Amino acid sequence: MFEFTVSARSGRARTGTFRTPHGDVRTPMFMPVGTQGSVKGISPHELLDIGSQIILANTYHLMLRPGPDLVAVHGGLPGFTAYPGPFLTDSGGFQVMSLGHMRKITEEGATFKSHLDGSLILLTPERSIGVQESLGADIIMAFDECPPYPASHEYVRNSLERTLRWLERSLTAKTRSDQALFPIVQGGIYHDLRAVSLQATVAFDTPGFAIGGLAVGESKEEMYPAISQTAQGLPESKPRYLMGVGHPEDLVAAMALGVDLFDCVYPTRTGRFGYALTDDGRLNMNSSAPRQQLMPIDPECDCYACRHYTRAYLAHLLRAEEMLAPRMLSLHNLCYLHRLVERASLAIASGTYREWAEEWAARYFKGNV
Ligand code: GUN
Ligand code: ZN
Repeated sequence: MFEFTVSARSGRARTGTFRTPHGDVRTPMFMPVGTQGSVKGISPHELLDIGSQIILANTYHLMLRPGPDLVAVHGGLPGFTAYPGPFLTDSGGFQVMSLGHMRKITEEGATFKSHLDGSLILLTPERSIGVQESLGADIIMAFDECPPYPASHEYVRNSLERTLRWLERSLTAKTRSDQALFPIVQGGIYHDLRAVSLQATVAFDTPGFAIGGLAVGESKEEMYPAISQTAQGLPESKPRYLMGVGHPEDLVAAMALGVDLFDCVYPTRTGRFGYALTDDGRLNMNSSAPRQQLMPIDPECDCYACRHYTRAYLAHLLRAEEMLAPRMLSLHNLCYLHRLVERASLAIASGTYREWAEEWAARYFKGNV
C-alpha cells in the first residue's frame, strides 16, 4: 500500500503512480476540491468521465456538519459521496485561518468560532486525525499552521517549530494503517526557515510530503523559489503535493520543479464566476463577444460542454442565471486542468517537458482567446 513508482523523468519533472486502497493515482495530477463532500455542481459520474482520480475534502467543514460519525456510518467518504475513488482530506487549520474564524493558536491547538452556530471549538492534532480517520480518506494531512502573508521571520520560525511538534502528535494519534499521513513543510518564503522545516520533516519518512504555506498572497517571484527549494529537498521516491495551487501557469511551473500533486478551488470557483480556461488564456464568458460565437468554449476540448454547446448558448445561460452555466464552466475548467497535466505527462515521457512548457506558456500568455 502507498507505493510510489516514478515512471519517467524530464529534467526535474517526473511522472509516476501512487497506489492507494481506493485505486492508483497517476501523477502529475490535479485534485478537484470537494470541500463539503461534493465538487460544487459536478457529480461523481462526471468527475470520472473527465479523468479525475482523487478528490479533496475538508476536515473543518465536515466535522462541523454533518459530523464525522455520520460519514463513518456510510463507510467513509466514498460511501457517503458515491465517488468510488481515492480521497485526500486537509487537516483543518488552514481553512480555519483562511475563513477568518481563527481566535487563538496555542501549543494545544487552534481555537475558532464555528461559522454555523458561533460556538467555540478547539481543533488539536489529535482531534484532526481522529476526524480524518472517521472520514476515511486514503491520504490524510498532518495538523499544521499556515502563517498569513506577510508574517515576520520570528513569527514563521515559532509557527513552524510548533507545526513540527504538532506533526509528532499527529503521527502518534494515527491508528489506521490504511491511510497515508502526509506532513506539511512550512517556513513561508524564508529560505533558512524552509530548510529547517524541510530537514526536520523528511526525517519522519512518511509515504508522501506536502509543500504548504504558499499561494497565500506572496508574488510568483517569491513562491517559485520556495517551491523549488522544498521540492528539491524532498525524497525522490515519495510524492510531493503542493497545497492550494491551481492556476494553469503555476501547475506548469511547479511540475518543472518536480511537484506531483495539486489542488485548488480555482477551476470551479472561476467557472462559477463565468470564466473558462483555454490554451489561449482565460475566456470571460460575461463579456459581449461570446454571446455571438457559434463555437465551443474550447475547440480543443472534448468535455461534455465543449462537445455539445456553443459559447453563445452558454453565455446566454450565464446571463439568464441558469445553473447549467456554472456547472458546465466548472466541468470544462476541471477537464482543462486534467488535460493539462496529461499533456505534461506525455511531454515528460518523451523527455521534452521544458520545450512543451515554453510552447504552452508562450501561447497562454498571448491571451488570444
Ligand atoms: N492549503 C493550502 N496551503 C495549506 C497549508 O499550508 N496547510 C494546510 N493544511 N492546507 C493548505
Ligand atoms: Zn471543455
